[in-house]
Amino acid sequence: MYYGTDQNNYEEMYREQMHQRENVLDLIKEAMKDERHDRIKYKNMMDMAKDEKVKKQIEFAYMDEGKHYKMFQQIYYMLTGKMIDIPAPKVEGYNKLIDAVETSINGELEAVELYRKIQSMLPNQKLRDMLFEIITDEQEHATRFVYVYSILTGK
Ligand SMILES: [Fe+2]
Ligand SMILES: [Fe+2]
Repeated sequence: MYYGTDQNNYEEMYREQMHQRENVLDLIKEAMKDERHDRIKYKNMMDMAKDEKVKKQIEFAYMDEGKHYKMFQQIYYMLTGKMIDIPAPKVEGYNKLIDAVETSINGELEAVELYRKIQSMLPNQKLRDMLFEIITDEQEHATRFVYVYSILTGK
């Protein structure tokens, strides 16, 4: 029946939207956890860095991750009306700075992937623009860590 089909489509669409909404909220929480993780990791790396030039590069990323955490918190609030905080996750230790730098390059590139996905699920331009800013920052961090890597290896 025509009406029945329409109704079913509507309900299906509604369920899909609700499902996506739950999903994007979970991904935002994951992003907030990752931002906290990276900020702690980069603080540790700054303490390990002997070269002032290296330290400065890591500090750029360290500062941005704090900003990103607050931006995701704001996005979550705009979607739900709820203000949430994510507890500080456990951060892996490193004996050598260069190893931490290497995993950071991969971490930043993985963040770009996750954030592109979140961006595509957001309901309006203002929120998508916020993700755009975060994504370009993470791309910049990846580039900075590649630079740091080259300084540390002397290449
Ligand atoms: Fe970040
Ligand atoms: Fe980053």
